[in-house]
Amino acid sequence: PTVFVITPTYARLVQKAELTRLSQTFLHVPQLHWIVVEDSPHKTPLVSDLLMKSGLTYTHLHMPTAKDRKLQENDPSWLKPRGVEQRNEGLRWLREDRRAQPGSDNQQGVVYFADDDNTYSLQIFEEMRNTQRVSVWPVGLVGGMKYERPVVEGGKVVRFHTGWRPSRPFPMDMAGFAVSLKLVLNNPEACFDGEAPMGFLESSFLQGLVTMDELEPKADNCTKVLVWHTRTEKPKMKREEALQAQGLGSDPAVEI
Ligand code: UGA
Ligand code: MN
Repeated sequence: PTVFVITPTYARLVQKAELTRLSQTFLHVPQLHWIVVEDSPHKTPLVSDLLMKSGLTYTHLHMPTAKDRKLQENDPSWLKPRGVEQRNEGLRWLREDRRAQPGSDNQQGVVYFADDDNTYSLQIFEEMRNTQRVSVWPVGLVGGMKYERPVVEGGKVVRFHTGWRPSRPFPMDMAGFAVSLKLVLNNPEACFDGEAPMGFLESSFLQGLVTMDELEPKADNCTKVLVWHTRTEKPKMKREEALQAQGLGSDPAVEI
């Protein structure tokens, strides 16, 4: 089955670096279709060009975050959920495209939401490939912990190891689950709720799709960390700004 990876992305100094790293990881994964959704009113040349040269099978979409929902420069990062409209746009495209594909194979596949700044081992894509409904696994360096994970007993998920509100329906990071394409197509209303309270974004999508009892634990019964919620430091531009003030800033024609 094909792994459909949905990645929201937005323009910032580190965007090209993030997408370069991610695309080069994906080049090592067989049967992967990358759905890149820009948080922008139009497709940007930077992302268009990168995708064109990537060597990957991809679909390039865009969907701007509504202004009142968009995180502002000086807001703390947790204030508003990120990537919501973009993931929903990816789901919309997938549902429409799969309906248009003739043949019985058009429902074969798995859907994974891969943010552009995380770190993915190649193994995680093989773990998720045969997802029946929803598969789950640990995520490293997240939630103020070394890792968060579903706790498995007798082959079933019975609770979650998390430091914060374990009572949430699915207290998991976005990087910690994948959904079968069939389930996505059979539940055309399932999407991410941008109005969901902090920490409930993943639950807002999964709630209507599965129960905890049905989750399929991967990565050796959720004992291995194969994906990390890494976050990239914002680069300092102090020298750049000082030089710019003297008319000696870096050439704006050079793409970074
Ligand atoms: C955590 C989770 O790992 C995310 O999956 C979740 O969307 C987010 O919290 C949330 O609560 O909304 P975090 O590392 O804090 O993630 O978020 P980012 O990595 O900054 O953003 C998640 C994705 O959305 C990234 O792919 C990023 O490129 C994209 N994004 C971010 C946008 O498309 N637009 C923005 O304005 C900001
Ligand atoms: Mn992130």
